[in-house]
Amino acid sequence: MKVKPEFVYVKETIPIEVEEGSILNISTKEVTSFTHGFHKYPAKFIPHLPKWAISKYLNGFENKTILEPFCGSGTTLVEGILAGHNVIGFDVDPLSVLISKVKITRIDVPTLDIICDWLIKNIKRKRNGNFKPACENLKHWFTEDAIRKLSLIRGLIDQIQVRFGSEKEIKDIVDLLIICFSSIIRRVSNADNESQKTYVSHTKLKMPEEVNNLFFQQLVLFFDRIRLFTDIVNPNLHSKVVCTSSNVFLLDKLEGHNIDLVITSPPYIKSIDYIYNQMAELFWVGDLFDMQTQDKQNGKKREYIGNKHLSKVEFKHYTPINTPFGIESLDKKLQIVFNSDKKNGHKHSYITYKYFLEMEKHFKEMSKCLTVGTPYIVIIGDSKVSGTYFDTANIVIEIARRNGFKLINKWGYKIKNRYMRFDRKGRGGIIEIDWVLELEKQIEMSLID
Ligand SMILES: C[S@@+](CC[C@H](N)C(=O)[O-])C[C@H]1O[C@@H](n2cnc3c(N)ncnc32)[C@H](O)[C@@H]1O
Repeated sequence: MKVKPEFVYVKETIPIEVEEGSILNISTKEVTSFTHGFHKYPAKFIPHLPKWAISKYLNGFENKTILEPFCGSGTTLVEGILAGHNVIGFDVDPLSVLISKVKITRIDVPTLDIICDWLIKNIKRKRNGNFKPACENLKHWFTEDAIRKLSLIRGLIDQIQVRFGSEKEIKDIVDLLIICFSSIIRRVSNADNESQKTYVSHTKLKMPEEVNNLFFQQLVLFFDRIRLFTDIVNPNLHSKVVCTSSNVFLLDKLEGHNIDLVITSPPYIKSIDYIYNQMAELFWVGDLFDMQTQDKQNGKKREYIGNKHLSKVEFKHYTPINTPFGIESLDKKLQIVFNSDKKNGHKHSYITYKYFLEMEKHFKEMSKCLTVGTPYIVIIGDSKVSGTYFDTANIVIEIARRNGFKLINKWGYKIKNRYMRFDRKGRGGIIEIDWVLELEKQIEMSLID
């Protein structure tokens, strides 16, 4: 029997204390304010969540330091800096790192104004650009008109540092314009706007938006939003986004900063192929990260936690019995997947095992970085793998526990905005609810091993 959860209805602001086990139904209107709406990103969370965590755990303080180890498009970082705190973000995805960096970097507004004027004038004046993406079948993804106009805009952005100088202020403006440019790519492409994977539908025909008008429209939005952000954010705050995996040695990347709060939503098991999602954008900006071709993009996929791109050799010797994870309920489920799914059970069981192994590495590393008492807020959903339900949140609690964290509270909220979070029903499984785990670093690392 399926029991529907009872929801606690909340409008815009999440109460500081949420009763353990309750599930909120949060109605939200404003999710794209300030720089939040700069770029789409899969599995973005609503700003209300980091805002709540900051009010609860850093209430009354300023100038504390917040870490977001799977920062994605930087929602936590934006909220952190708006609330007057220093922020550090990590992500393995280079485009996400650039999006996040742009969203939290103050800009020299008068210079941006001059550069935008120059850019608009040249887009209107010139016909052809000199930027050529390395993608072979570009005409499958874009119309000829779109290719010509995108080539011109990207080529002009590339000239900015030559014309205006290579100081940090100019480089920050170039990064902002690259993200503004990237933000229009999917909409001007032939690929479906909303689907998680980048593909051209032959049944649902799409009329791509016109490049120049959309770019100008975005430019105005970026200009207004970054000006407001620059006006209100304290210039003395420290912010940094590092392109790194979050399950390797991290202490050196914090450069001596003491972390006061961690807020994050790690990837889900076997769910989102971040690179596949960004393929169209990467054809046009991927050269900046050496990810401009599909071959190069595929080579990078293995670094993402939860990815399903494995070679058979990697799991040839894996069986749940010979390689137990050491959490009884998890090991039982890995065995069920292994046995029950005749076609993919071996692979899927291994992908799931590996997911938790990497999450464990992450907690081990985080444990070395945090002092006792530091809150660590994790937002995560459960998943279905080969028809078996994995209560990911509870397993993560267990993993965190054995790496020196204790659980303070667990509650959930209903996922509603399909644009912000992709619907995985029928693919990755159940994610109607995301769980919020309020963890706290409890034991010194030296006492764990
Ligand atoms: C659920 S998304 C985070 C979304 C973010 N909360 C936001 O609002 O945009 C998870 C992120 O984890 C990143 N990720 C996956 N594997 C990683 C790894 N090994 N190290 C660091 N980040 C990783 C993905 O690139 C993705 O950006």
